Amino acid sequence: MIHAHSGLRWVVLFLLIAAIVTAYNNSKKGTPYSKDANKLGLFALIATHIQLLLGLGLYFTSPYVKFESGVMKDSILRFYTVEHALMMVIAITLITVGYSKTKKTGNWKKQFTLYLLGLIVMLLAIPWPFRGLNAGWF
Ligand code: HEM
Repeated sequence: MIHAHSGLRWVVLFLLIAAIVTAYNNSKKGTPYSKDANKLGLFALIATHIQLLLGLGLYFTSPYVKFESGVMKDSILRFYTVEHALMMVIAITLITVGYSKTKKTGNWKKQFTLYLLGLIVMLLAIPWPFRGLNAGWF
């Protein structure tokens, strides 16, 4: 499950960037909203939600998630128990709201802005190997 969760990050990041660029171009060109025009937005949303499910699975099995005193003093336990999970839920909420607002209003700018914000929060919450959080590149 860790390998799936770790590897899927790249799919999520790639699809999010592709969806952000597409939403920007659609907004500039005035492309009317259609299911077809928003395929990438949907794929990015689906990949992000699969990542959420894997993350929830890990949350209840990982040795880095603990509910006991001293968790907040240990930077690795604090990261996975609080920071990673909370920031990722915020990122996924921003992306979900971006998708549904654009679907309802046809306004590509909302998807562009909220997906971009979600991407930034996600990049900050990923345990990149150089952050010393016992995680790898894949
Ligand atoms: C799109 C959002 C997410 C991304 C991109 C992401 C990415 C990652 C990455 C790269 C790792 C390190 C894996 C490794 O050891 O190499 C990780 C670990 C972890 N993630 Fe996420 N994550 C996301 C969402 C979540 C959510 C929402 C939760 C919990 C509710 C979660 C819980 C965990 C836990 C518990 C670990 C530690 C697993 C372990 O090593 O025991 N993740 N995540």
